[in-house]
Amino acid sequence: MKFFIDTANLEQIKEAQDLGILDGVTTNPSLMAKEGISGKEAILNHYKTICEIADGDISAEVLSTTYEEMIKEGEELAALHPNIVVKIPMIKDGVKALKYFSNKGIKTNCTLIFSAGQALLAAKAGATYVSPFLGRLDDISVDGMNLIEEIRIIFDNYMFDTEILAASIRSPMHIINCAKIGADVVTSPLASILNLLKHPLTDSGLAQFVADAKKMD
Ligand code: G3P
Repeated sequence: MKFFIDTANLEQIKEAQDLGILDGVTTNPSLMAKEGISGKEAILNHYKTICEIADGDISAEVLSTTYEEMIKEGEELAALHPNIVVKIPMIKDGVKALKYFSNKGIKTNCTLIFSAGQALLAAKAGATYVSPFLGRLDDISVDGMNLIEEIRIIFDNYMFDTEILAASIRSPMHIINCAKIGADVVTSPLASILNLLKHPLTDSGLAQFVADAKKMD
């Protein structure tokens, strides 16, 4: 399973990259705004900086919602760096844009996926990734993990190359359950990744080993 970090924060991206487990980065307009990035030039420069810091696929989301504008914007984003993946919303014009970029060999990530039907359409249009939003479904009392299972079955039935990129991750349990189901990628805040490594028995066990090691000095 690939690990992406879901942030536009450069320090957190560096920390995950230094950990040696990072396969890519996802961002969205809300995450960019959170870092105070605004204006076209600043946005493009920020994506270039992320590509310099992190290895792997870097999702950059279009801000427009019409086919023509998404194509123009997506081509500009894709030209920034070979690792850029154009992130496109699951709307009718978005499906057309996915097909356009797929025909041109430009990688895409179809975002705001909340149903298996949406994921199927995106895969048919040749999306590289689909991003089902687990946490936001859980937030409205719908089992987000069930959606990952449904998409896994459908993609396996027809051997779609499209990868399931589980997004809107809220906890380490989301990551573990995605791994059990067979999501191809999980994009997560840094905190959920770091929480995977914590266990009180590891801490107490290490404290004991360190104490006993001192006795052997
Ligand atoms: O990047 C898309 C997704 O991961 C957003 O997550 O926490 O805003 O629901 P969240």
